[in-house]
This record gives sequence, C-alpha cells and structure tokens, in this order.
Amino acid sequence: MIAIAVPKTRADEVKDRLNRRRQLDLEWRPGRKGDLVLLPLKGDNPFPELQVVEADLFPQDRHRPPQERIAEQLDIPNELKTLLPEKYERLGHVIVLRLPEPLLPFRREIAEAYAKVLKARTVLLEKGMIRGVERRPDVELLFGEETETTHSESGILYRLDPTRVMFSSGNFDEKLRMASLDCRGETVVDMFAGIGYFTMPLAAKAGAEKVIACEINPEAIRFLRKNIELNRVADKVTVFGGDNRDLPGEGLADRVVMGYVNVTWQFLPKAFSLVKKGGMIHYQDTFSIDRIPGGIVENVRNGSGGRPFEIAGIREVKSYAPSISHMVADVRVL
Ligand SMILES: C[S@@+](CC[C@H](N)C(=O)[O-])C[C@H]1O[C@@H](n2cnc3c(N)ncnc32)[C@H](O)[C@@H]1O
Repeated sequence: MIAIAVPKTRADEVKDRLNRRRQLDLEWRPGRKGDLVLLPLKGDNPFPELQVVEADLFPQDRHRPPQERIAEQLDIPNELKTLLPEKYERLGHVIVLRLPEPLLPFRREIAEAYAKVLKARTVLLEKGMIRGVERRPDVELLFGEETETTHSESGILYRLDPTRVMFSSGNFDEKLRMASLDCRGETVVDMFAGIGYFTMPLAAKAGAEKVIACEINPEAIRFLRKNIELNRVADKVTVFGGDNRDLPGEGLADRVVMGYVNVTWQFLPKAFSLVKKGGMIHYQDTFSIDRIPGGIVENVRNGSGGRPFEIAGIREVKSYAPSISHMVADVRVL
C-alpha cells in the first residue's frame, strides 16, 4: 500500500496535516523503516519534499481480532500461541482467564498482554471448580492489584471481588428470565442470594414488592448490601444473614428462588414451608442426564412434605459437567 516516508521529527506535524486534509488512511497503522515513519496516504502526495513509497502496513487494531494482537505482544513459541483462549470472562475492569496446561509457565506475561489489549486493570487465572458451601472461586491473581470491581449486566450493577465470591455468566439466561417475570405485589424469598445475582433483577426489574435475601457467607453479604445500595432497592430488599433454614415464618412467600446446585434438594422442605398456597418455587439443582426429568420430580415430591404441587416448567440453566446439567424446575404449590 502507499505511504509517505517522514523523518521521525516531522511525523506528528505531517500526520496532523494529512488528517486535516482527510488524506491519512485510517484503515492502516503507521509503520517504521529505520528513522522514517511510514504514514498511510490517500490521494496525491501534498508534500513534494517527502517521498511516497510502497509499504507493508498492518490494518488498524480495531479490525484485528484481540487474539492476533495479544499473540503479537508475546515472546512465546508460536505453536503455543495457537492455544491462547479466545473466550474469557470480563467483570468490570477484571478479566478472568482459563489457560490450558502448556501455557501456564507463561501465565504472567500472557495476563499482561490480555490486560494491555483488552484494556483491563486486573487479570485472574481460573484454576478450578467453584468450591464448598459458600461456592468460593479458585483463582490466582496474575496481573494488577485491584480485584474488587463493579460489573454491569442487563442494567443491573454487581459489586464483587471475583477472588472471593463466584460470578457465573453461565446463569445469565436464568437471571434474565427472573428479571422478566411479573412479580408486582409479591413477597419473594431468595434462599441462596450470594451477592444478589437473582435478588437484584427481581427487585429492580421484576417489580417484586419485598425480597428476603438469605446468605450464609459474610463476604457475599458485604457485596449483597453494596449491591442493594448501587441498584437503589433498599426499600424492597432485606438481608437475612445466616442459614436460610433458620429464616423464621411459614407460608410468607409468593415465590421462592433456590439458586444453588448439587445439594439444593436438601432445602426443598424449607422452601415448601416458606411458600404460600398457589405460590411458585424455582428449584435449581444439578442432575445427571438420565435423571431428567424423573429425578427432578422425585426430589420435589420427596421434599414437598405431602403438599400438592404441579411442575409448571423444566429447563436447563447451563451444562454443568460432562453429562451433568444445571436444571431449574418451576414448581407451583397448590
Ligand atoms: C452459588 S451462590 C449463588 C448463585 C446464584 N444463585 C447464581 O445463580 O449465580 C450460592 C450462595 O448460597 C450461599 N449459601 C449456601 N448455603 C446456604 C444456606 N444454607 N443458607 C444461606 N445461604 C447459603 C453460599 O454462600 C453462596 O453465596
């Protein structure tokens, strides 16, 4: 392509004048040749004292996939560059990466390259599955310092520290579904609130009158309180800090949300005791494929304490592990 060769000392001046004449070709990135800067030119050369040359320039970054720009930054073997992940999680100014084994020895320089190209201040490495009752993430800080961040999703703000509390983008559709429900005038109990993944959409979007957000993990409660403020729903949301099985009262909820996995079935008796006649329980849990839908209905029956119910709907929230699905059943209590 055509470029005008400019001594470094005049590069800014010439670039500016070409720009004002709309003769700087913004599709291409300026290049270098020794002490000369090669500026991509459109039309005739307006500077007779400067030479026009053929140049191999790169397209502007915005046209190049981040992968390419990240790989370019890295001094690692080319065969490893093909393993650089295209997918990553962005939570506010934090990027969370999963790296295949062969890349782990280079994880710090890789994190720096992702931060630079993706304009992130902090990069974390996701090392393993979310663990324990409190669903704590297993991550390593690779770049930056500030791990606390504010993530915006469908108009909802979530303050969190992804090194301390989980955030599952895989539950995105289910959060959207909760936000789109008509909960006007309802009292809702969110039995596993975390930082407010469902409580916020239910209070801020679905129009719930009152949401009782139960959470056992003090760190998650700190962010839950912050998110109640950030999303201006303090008039609707009350926090019950502790085991949701200790939440006092029976038949107080029009809707109960059970956003948990693996052992949620153990909490069904509590959910049935909390819900009013005609109310709805959104029961989430993980099931091996062969237990869907039979195993779901069986768990609900075993947890119902003999109360009549009907299954209003069953859907997959996300694939959880090979042949294991994270499912949600909408249970109408009759
Ligand atoms: C996985 S997180 C919430 C996930 C969220 N519903 C989502 O879908 O993104 C589950 C939360 O439930 C909390 N938790 C676990 N057992 C609990 C209990 N018995 N009572 C109250 N909270 C509990 C954990 O501390 C954790 O913050």
